Amino acid sequence: QDVFVPPHPLIKHWISVLRNEETPCPIFKNVMAELGRFLIYEASRDCLPTVSGEIRSPVGVASVEFIDPRDPIVVVPILRAGLALAEHASSILPATKTYHLGISRDEETLQPTVYLNKLPERFPEGSRVFVVDPMLATGGTVVAALDLIKERGADNKQVKVISAVAAPPALQKLSEKFPGLHVYAGIIDPTVNEKGFIIPGLGDAGDRSFG
Ligand code: PRP
Repeated sequence: QDVFVPPHPLIKHWISVLRNEETPCPIFKNVMAELGRFLIYEASRDCLPTVSGEIRSPVGVASVEFIDPRDPIVVVPILRAGLALAEHASSILPATKTYHLGISRDEETLQPTVYLNKLPERFPEGSRVFVVDPMLATGGTVVAALDLIKERGADNKQVKVISAVAAPPALQKLSEKFPGLHVYAGIIDPTVNEKGFIIPGLGDAGDRSFG
């Protein structure tokens, strides 16, 4: 699998604000959404087919290109924290379809439980899927999400995971289980502690966004 950490100062800036324990909840959620805007922009760079045509401007005729609205990007936010990171997806991408997945991790066992699955029965052939979850820690949650997405016909090579902070255990699991997958992360942190928190990380992104 390929892991991309876009080298943009705005991404570094917003990650730094998220890391700060003094950043209050409403600001944290908005900053997460802002970071998502840039990560989604980067992740969509090579997968937005365009259609060309002509448009009349007030003073002439121009050859133009539009993103093909018949081929929406599938966005899968993983509740809860993924809702904040995916907030602007449907406004910055001209065509999206959003399907929610609710997955929570047991605080003791760190095992994920899927409590909401709004994925379609089958993804149309060639669907490009963005799975959005701010934290890739032990990787249990994202693997559970990708298993469900794969079951419904998505091809690893067309799937991108978008996260704020990724840790080695999750990246390792993803590369073993989903060859060809692309991961876009704001930053890669060194470790996960025994409670499943990324260190230094951001704390609990779900609680910091939604209380
Ligand atoms: C957190 C986080 C990820 C997951 C990462 O979610 O937002 O989804 O844990 O951990 P993992 O890689 O070890 O599985 P949480 O279960 O706290 O749910 P929430 O977003 O509703 O707070």
